[in-house]
Amino acid sequence: EIKACLFDLDGVLVDTAKYHYIAWKELADQLGFEFTEKDNERLKGVSRSASLNILLEIGGLALDEAEKARLAESKNSRYVEYISSMDSSEILPGALAFLEDCRSQGIGTALGSASKNAMTILNNTGLTPYFDAIIDGTNTSVAKPDPEVFLLGAEALGVPPVNCVVFEDAEAGIEAARRAGMASVGIGSPETLGAASLVVPSLLEMSVARLKEAFAAV
Ligand code: G6P
Ligand code: MG
Repeated sequence: EIKACLFDLDGVLVDTAKYHYIAWKELADQLGFEFTEKDNERLKGVSRSASLNILLEIGGLALDEAEKARLAESKNSRYVEYISSMDSSEILPGALAFLEDCRSQGIGTALGSASKNAMTILNNTGLTPYFDAIIDGTNTSVAKPDPEVFLLGAEALGVPPVNCVVFEDAEAGIEAARRAGMASVGIGSPETLGAASLVVPSLLEMSVARLKEAFAAV
């Protein structure tokens, strides 16, 4: 029985994936190499420092830790500029209605994001009050695909993992859900999210009724 929904933030509830992409692409431009949207898939759901390592690997660059810290900081200041002017218009289609549906039907809601900027985004878009628990990059020590972020969310809600469903747009997040022993709904295309228990194009296709039907056996 499904008792709680755990949500990734970037790319599931809000359209920040595009800002992460632009900010990383600007950095790749400065460093003198190409960074495509396909490359960007590998960064989704991955922590800032792990993302930088992947980016540098794509560019064939090996840098020392001090230089990497400087670049990560530079990417983040650009990203923070982009998200500072976000508002509720950037909540993705279907997200609010589904969160409201969960709350009205007594389904627990938790955020499970790798981002250290999650609170800024939740507050700017007005999403904060929709969550019973918020776990983000400031409360976690290991990034997805490690299950930590979702296990902490389930614990905060007091719901066993087997009764939780994770909503994710990233392969690393679907893998984190699997390792946490939770079902998952991929938001996006089955091409990249085939490992999810169910894939839908957006939360517009989701409701508590559909969720209960899809995971009736759980
Ligand atoms: C999310 C995004 C990633 C991002 C990570 C860290 O998981 O999908 O693309 O790298 O958060 O975000 P931050 O805001 O802390 O740099
Ligand atoms: Mg995401």
